[in-house]
Amino acid sequence: MAPKRGTDWWKSSVVYQVYPSSFNDSDGDGVGDLPGVIERLDYLELLGVDVVWLSPVYPSPWDDNGYDISDYLDIHPMFGTLADWDRLRDGLHERGMRLMMDLVVNHTSDEHPWFIESRASKDSDKRDFYFWRPGRGGGPPNNWGSVFSGPAWTYDEATGEYYLHLFTRRQPDLNWENPRVRAAVHDVARWWLDRGADGFRMDVINFVSKTPELPSGPLAATSGHGVFTDYAVNGPRLHEFLHELHQEVFAGRDVLTVGEMPRVGVEQALLHTMVERRELSMVFQFEHVNLDHGPGGKFDPRPLDLVRLKESLNRWQAGLGESGWNSLYWNNHDQPRAVSRFGDEAHRVESAKALATTLHMMKGTPYVYQGEELGMTNAHMADIADYRDVETLNHHRAMVETGRVNEGTAMAAVARMSRDNARTPVQWDASPGAGFTTGTPWIGINPNHTQINAEAAVADPDSVFHYYRRLIALRKEHPVIVHGRFEPLLEEDPAVYAYTRTLDGRVLLVTANWSSDTVPLELDPSVARRDPVRLIGNYPDEGAFAPLRPWEARVHLGS
Ligand code: NOJ
Repeated sequence: MAPKRGTDWWKSSVVYQVYPSSFNDSDGDGVGDLPGVIERLDYLELLGVDVVWLSPVYPSPWDDNGYDISDYLDIHPMFGTLADWDRLRDGLHERGMRLMMDLVVNHTSDEHPWFIESRASKDSDKRDFYFWRPGRGGGPPNNWGSVFSGPAWTYDEATGEYYLHLFTRRQPDLNWENPRVRAAVHDVARWWLDRGADGFRMDVINFVSKTPELPSGPLAATSGHGVFTDYAVNGPRLHEFLHELHQEVFAGRDVLTVGEMPRVGVEQALLHTMVERRELSMVFQFEHVNLDHGPGGKFDPRPLDLVRLKESLNRWQAGLGESGWNSLYWNNHDQPRAVSRFGDEAHRVESAKALATTLHMMKGTPYVYQGEELGMTNAHMADIADYRDVETLNHHRAMVETGRVNEGTAMAAVARMSRDNARTPVQWDASPGAGFTTGTPWIGINPNHTQINAEAAVADPDSVFHYYRRLIALRKEHPVIVHGRFEPLLEEDPAVYAYTRTLDGRVLLVTANWSSDTVPLELDPSVARRDPVRLIGNYPDEGAFAPLRPWEARVHLGS
């Protein structure tokens, strides 16, 4: 069966993210690979997802786990070959699924030939592919700090100038002001679409337009560096660049494009996703996953306030609801595991299902991050030596070295927020390698794989896996889940997330208890119109308006 064609197919789709190094290792080297993904296609088909988003599989020195690309048009040997990629594409297409690639073009690796040429001399033909500037006052050209701590500029002896990198020093930023850079990016994107890719997730795509003068920013609360947000995020030519990319590459093709956009606001996101503006299908916004960050950033975590979460997500539902389009996610490879972060590990199964229900019934395209469908938890690694992620290691060093926080507090923050929580291998079975590898895994396997694993979940009809499968199937059965108008309920309730979706006289009532206590559901039964029928729930059915048990979630359809 070929994937269904036609406009806006992605509105009724569910996307599954594969983080290849941690998904499935076919050759025992401890790192997942493309043949490993192919081995698990039947599992993905059983789950019922429509699209696989593959995090980067390109050649890379692996400074930022592949988000530092040294060749856009090939496959990293540890993942396989282009022929393996072709087999994966075919395997997905044969099952009616599509393949979305990761387009990482705000920056390259410092080992990309463009950068090697660019840094060689001030006269290089590629010099202007990147941002090179002389120092100021014996220091960098401006005060920007990088996302992964430390300055955003590195001095290069060869030519006596600094280059800009908003991430690690091994991820130099491409200069999109240069039309040759944009044309080169268009070529890369076209090449993958011509080969059969079905779209792109675009890494930090709202960082590509910078204020040309690159002015210094206000000082950050803790790091001592300036914040670049005002000058390098949602910059002056962003809409123009995205529209151009659409015209040059996507127009006339049936593709899904999602722009990863930290610090995008709902008004901007609407402009990016209105079909008639021809920019993107949807964006990943960050507001809801930043609500538990304190003044010192993500490694200064705070408890989540459900009322604030609802205020944020509900505003996005309203803002993009009619003319734009939302993407819906709790997890990805950059976020700790949602069940540990927003749920309660003591009620792991119920809270994983409640989080899923809350998200999947909203308006937008849901994303499932590998292992989320199993209710995988944070890794709780207590020793910094067990961590691999450059962001985690850099911030840990910065916190401890500056004496800003003591080692115990730093480790607690890391254990709670590190991206490595999402990057431990997928737990396929209870065997020592978790069915992920027969070798030594590149990052530790969560010891709870003996209980939490795909083999057990597929065998158990009440598992988180089968609950996700049913949620995904419901989206295909009920147009109200795709198109219904969203209306929030109980906005001030500190424990209950509730809303309706309405379409053609049918009302979907979604209620979820985001607490570990039993709580009353103070709703007027008229919100569900007449005869509400339960579509799904994670406890035995006691009616649409009964008190909600710990992490109970249910969906009713009335008419
Ligand atoms: C966002 C990616 O998701 C993340 O993993 C990466 O570190 C940064 N962009 C830089 O590419």
